[in-house]
Amino acid sequence: MFLTKEEEKILAGEEGLAAQKSMEILVALGEIFGAERMIDISSVQVAGVSYHNLGEAGLEFLEDLAKDGKVKVLTTLNPAGMDLENWRNLGIPSDFAEKQERVINAFKKLGIITTCTCTPYLIGNLPRFGEHIAWSESSAVTFANSVLGAKTNKEGGPSALASAITGKTPYYGFHLDKNREPEIVVNVKKEPKSEMEFGALALAIGKMVGKKIPLIKGIKKASVDDLKSFCASFATYSSTIMFHMEGITPNKFKANPKETIEITSKDVEDAIRFLNDEGDVDFVFIGCPHCSLAEIEKISKLLKGKKVKKETWICTARPTKKIADAMGYTKIIEDSGAKFACDTCLAVAPLKGRFKVIATNSAKGCYYGRGSNAFKTKFMTLEKCIEEALK
Ligand code: F3S
Repeated sequence: MFLTKEEEKILAGEEGLAAQKSMEILVALGEIFGAERMIDISSVQVAGVSYHNLGEAGLEFLEDLAKDGKVKVLTTLNPAGMDLENWRNLGIPSDFAEKQERVINAFKKLGIITTCTCTPYLIGNLPRFGEHIAWSESSAVTFANSVLGAKTNKEGGPSALASAITGKTPYYGFHLDKNREPEIVVNVKKEPKSEMEFGALALAIGKMVGKKIPLIKGIKKASVDDLKSFCASFATYSSTIMFHMEGITPNKFKANPKETIEITSKDVEDAIRFLNDEGDVDFVFIGCPHCSLAEIEKISKLLKGKKVKKETWICTARPTKKIADAMGYTKIIEDSGAKFACDTCLAVAPLKGRFKVIATNSAKGCYYGRGSNAFKTKFMTLEKCIEEALK
């Protein structure tokens, strides 16, 4: 793999141990994937933040890197294992909290903005069209590639961190235009009407296309929240991290795929049925991916003057909640008994055994609710989730 003089120097340890280790990781990755060279990146999103997933070895690795490492580009974090301020109120054990705080402190020492969210594009880590970046979390990666038109592979935690410290990534995969062309046309017969239906549609498409990049036709309108839901579900149920949506997404392409499939309303109904189990809901979870301000405003209107009867969590990025605080949405929501869980989510918080059946508007949330936590799932719109919380 060709390295510039600057990159050779980093590899030789001239910028310190953390930078040297990082360059070693990137060179190894580049060689595995046949990259000819490195490219500069301008934004990073690091996954592997929850102590639940990192464990002791991961924490030590981070504390080691933080001894002499500093990031070179704008870097934010994926959700952590707990709300960093309000963890007691959410039932997180204090020994877990102490370890999680050490993880966050190591990231802070590295110069990373310790905002923990899977929607970095909503809180200021927003790359422009065509920009090369190194992001980790699959829904954010799919949003960046498909909706924003930035270019990223799905990085693992260590490779994203290595890119943050060096400002580089190996030039392969989704950084190359030839690997971003559509490979199959998907004709959608019935337009989705809610964020939940966008999630169900993405599940149906994702299962059918596998690792082929689809060109999706037949959708005239999609809000950022709809696309956020679609990207999370698509990244979960397909084996790729990019799609084109005619008239909606900005990427240009040359290919004219011959293979065509149809997605009917029955396919979407089947996807919804697949995510609905039997059982009585004891946990309502909204915010996968993390809620936007518009969603929080909607929730506050639905909850105004009412009391929830079930444990209800709203996950969002802390900067988004700060705006919700200023707008009075937080007070309305918390007065109802619902709780904010900033910085975290159900996939990375230690929730196993605490609940049995969750209601959520997220197809991805159902996947992790079932997988990581062995919950049963009920999949419904945001409005229905709130109705369920009030029952
Ligand atoms: Fe985000 Fe967690 Fe869902 S990382 S996309 S809220 S599973």
